[in-house]
Amino acid sequence: MDDFLWWRDGVIYQIYPRSYADSNDDGLGDLPGITARLDYLADLGIDAIWLSPIYPTPDKDFGYDVSDHSAVDPRFGTLADFDRLVAEAHKRGIRVILDLVLNHTSDQHPWFRESRASRENPKRDWHIWRDPKPSPCKGEDRVGVNRPPNNWQSVFGGRAWTYDKTTGQYYYHMFLPEQPDVNWRNPEVREAQLDVVRFWLERGVDGFRLDVFNAYFKDAQLRNNPPKFGLRAFDRQHHANDCDQPEMIPLLNELRTMLDSYDERYAVGETFLGTPQKAASYCGPDLLHTAFSFDFTLRRFDPRQFLDAIRQWEGALGTKAWPNYTLSNHDTPRNATRYTHGEDDARAKVALALLLTLRGTPFLYYGEEIGMRDISLRRNEILDPPGRRYWPIYKGRDGCRSPMQWDDSPNAGFCPPVVQPWLPVHPNYRTRNVAAQREDPASMLNFTRRLIALRRENPALRRGTFVPLTCESRHALAYLRHSPEQTVLVALNFANRPIRVACDLPLPAANWHLLLSTARDNLPRLELTPYEVCILAMM
Ligand code: NOJ
Repeated sequence: MDDFLWWRDGVIYQIYPRSYADSNDDGLGDLPGITARLDYLADLGIDAIWLSPIYPTPDKDFGYDVSDHSAVDPRFGTLADFDRLVAEAHKRGIRVILDLVLNHTSDQHPWFRESRASRENPKRDWHIWRDPKPSPCKGEDRVGVNRPPNNWQSVFGGRAWTYDKTTGQYYYHMFLPEQPDVNWRNPEVREAQLDVVRFWLERGVDGFRLDVFNAYFKDAQLRNNPPKFGLRAFDRQHHANDCDQPEMIPLLNELRTMLDSYDERYAVGETFLGTPQKAASYCGPDLLHTAFSFDFTLRRFDPRQFLDAIRQWEGALGTKAWPNYTLSNHDTPRNATRYTHGEDDARAKVALALLLTLRGTPFLYYGEEIGMRDISLRRNEILDPPGRRYWPIYKGRDGCRSPMQWDDSPNAGFCPPVVQPWLPVHPNYRTRNVAAQREDPASMLNFTRRLIALRRENPALRRGTFVPLTCESRHALAYLRHSPEQTVLVALNFANRPIRVACDLPLPAANWHLLLSTARDNLPRLELTPYEVCILAMM
């Protein structure tokens, strides 16, 4: 494995820091808490951790409203704690990826405090300010009635423009009013943002996840978005002018040059309103290493759905960039919640086996390795702003952000029993937790560890080509991963009944040996038991 490249050949594990491990008993996870769990992560076999934002924040959007990009929120620890986390992670061969939120700041960020102070402030142009649009009809010209500069909407609901009485102008925010977008067209802003990137690179960070990077630039003339059909006001527009502007490409070139001036540094973009084609357009040797398309998070538990997503992603990327796959993250219900019923993990294992045997970097979301489910909250318990606004149509993202379940003690070992965690622990923690699953050979945790180890040990699973096989049953997904050294066959049964995986390829049984199966210890007759995962290798 001489040419092992961590971000391409490894497995990346996303940590939502406030929910991982609380070391100082305040009900909120923190950096020393994560450091204390690094041995667990090393044992799991992952190669890198991506930390959702750790910066000072007023928490209007739970860390994605940053008030200082070059510091650590005191509730999470100090810069010294961060340095220790990086050093300890590196000792164990684990890389560290930070979440960079450069599209917007908090309204409490010093840049915005200055920007909103007066029209003459030198930082006025660091955010996006515009005069009210002149009223088309005289009747509207009354005092106190004015109109936003254009029709843009906020993803979290309402207009994307908020009127500031003090200075008589509107400012723009794609997300909450407390998250004003920065003006990337201002060269001073651009320099200051790239300084932030440099700051963390110098501290030894291995890579970045770029929050909604393709929204950095907006149309220079701030033209209206054209209309389309949709449910919410935001969805009733084509987002032609509030994201995906051509200026992003030279910025990515510059960023990539900076990353490449260090050793093995990496960037993955969170493609806003991502499609495979759009995400792929930002990837390449002089652009991002990779970008998320999120297609898997939208798919039903159906092999045809997944195969379609894989084909589209592979097709869009071609040879110019390496794919990645993700089933869950902090913005979407967990895949175990979406795909399973009750506490049965059979379907979650099929989904996990798919994620960890594809051609592309797998991103695991904390707790996915033990099959954590979303918590359900009553209306008055909801913290996430879009959930509060749209309940009960949309209940927000708190469900997938609940505390990590370490053991069966009250609060699941996330924080002491007497402390109230920031979000409730899932009631299934007494049986669904790391300690219990360690002891159970058939657990999700041991299954995940075996799959990760298998990926590491088998070159075809890491780097081989992906060749889908045509199967007799529509409930089967079977594919070969083929490298110069070996061929691996992955066969997954998505049904709760036995199926035959008759493929369009002759697979002489004698040449295959079993790498892993959830159901058998002998070679298959190409018949899979309900929800079986079967992985074979031919040398
Ligand atoms: C995308 C992040 O994933 C999400 O959690 C956040 O609310 C928005 N960007 C705004 O930063």
